[in-house]
Amino acid sequence: MRHLMSPLDFTVEELDNLFDLANDIENNMSKYAHVCDGKKLATCFYEPSTRTRLSFESAMLSLGGSVIGFSDAGSSSASKGESVSDTIRVISCFADICAMRHPKEGAPMVAASKSSIPVINAGDGGHQHPTQTLTDLLTIRSLKGNLRDFTIGLCGDLKFGRTVHSLIHALIRYPGIRFIFISPEELKVPDYITDMLKEKHIPYEEVIRLEEIMPRLDFLYMTRVQRERFFNEEDYVRLKDFYILNKEKMKLAKQDMLILHPLPRVNEISVEVDDDPRAAYFKQVQYGVYVRMALILTLLGIKTKI
Ligand code: NCD
Repeated sequence: MRHLMSPLDFTVEELDNLFDLANDIENNMSKYAHVCDGKKLATCFYEPSTRTRLSFESAMLSLGGSVIGFSDAGSSSASKGESVSDTIRVISCFADICAMRHPKEGAPMVAASKSSIPVINAGDGGHQHPTQTLTDLLTIRSLKGNLRDFTIGLCGDLKFGRTVHSLIHALIRYPGIRFIFISPEELKVPDYITDMLKEKHIPYEEVIRLEEIMPRLDFLYMTRVQRERFFNEEDYVRLKDFYILNKEKMKLAKQDMLILHPLPRVNEISVEVDDDPRAAYFKQVQYGVYVRMALILTLLGIKTKI
């Protein structure tokens, strides 16, 4: 039995197969409409979510399966003091696969160790968000044709943003990737990540101003400032509008640069940018459903012919 805790749980070749499957699903939805008939997905969300939970649910329903679960810790037995380990043992009796989001780093991993069904980490604290990364990689691969030789700017809260941490880990396995980290001093990417990049000789730069590096980017990955992980509101208020991508700044970008964002957006991308053909963040949401469909099939061991 396999779980998904980190994007590195799959080899590059396995990811290629997963993305091929996701693209086949994209082009032949009806072929997959009953492949999970009779199967159940449990979504156990101890932290707020719109996209990820509904994307998982939509994915399972589109495969013919059904969905059970809870969307906040307050309505689960966690509020009575039940441990994640006990909860997953119980869920294992009810469902065939589980997607879990938790504010504590490592909680889905603890669950996986006690589970008799595949567990998918749907975001654990400031740590990892592997299915967002699968979404990001599929989006890049589908819109650009491959996953190599590009410069990606990651902008915003690089300290607490788990999507950023997961994406960096995943991208370093592809050739010719260069990172530019754009953040205020207080929200820089953690040292363990820059140490890893140095060790692997992966080129990266750290800058504060977005404008100065904009013309060099092939992708710009914007993120929101993660209010819920701040220790005080004052710091959040000071930093929340540090970056606002608008039409004016987009004039500095290449004609084929793509803007990605895991969403939700707060103020960091002005709505006037949404009509720009380079804005790919809503397409990204759609790719998130295809890749989760492919992931559910893969972890359940359901074989289909592409
Ligand atoms: C992200 C998350 O939960 O980490 N959202 C998502 O799942 N797409 C990003 C965020 O909350 O900023």
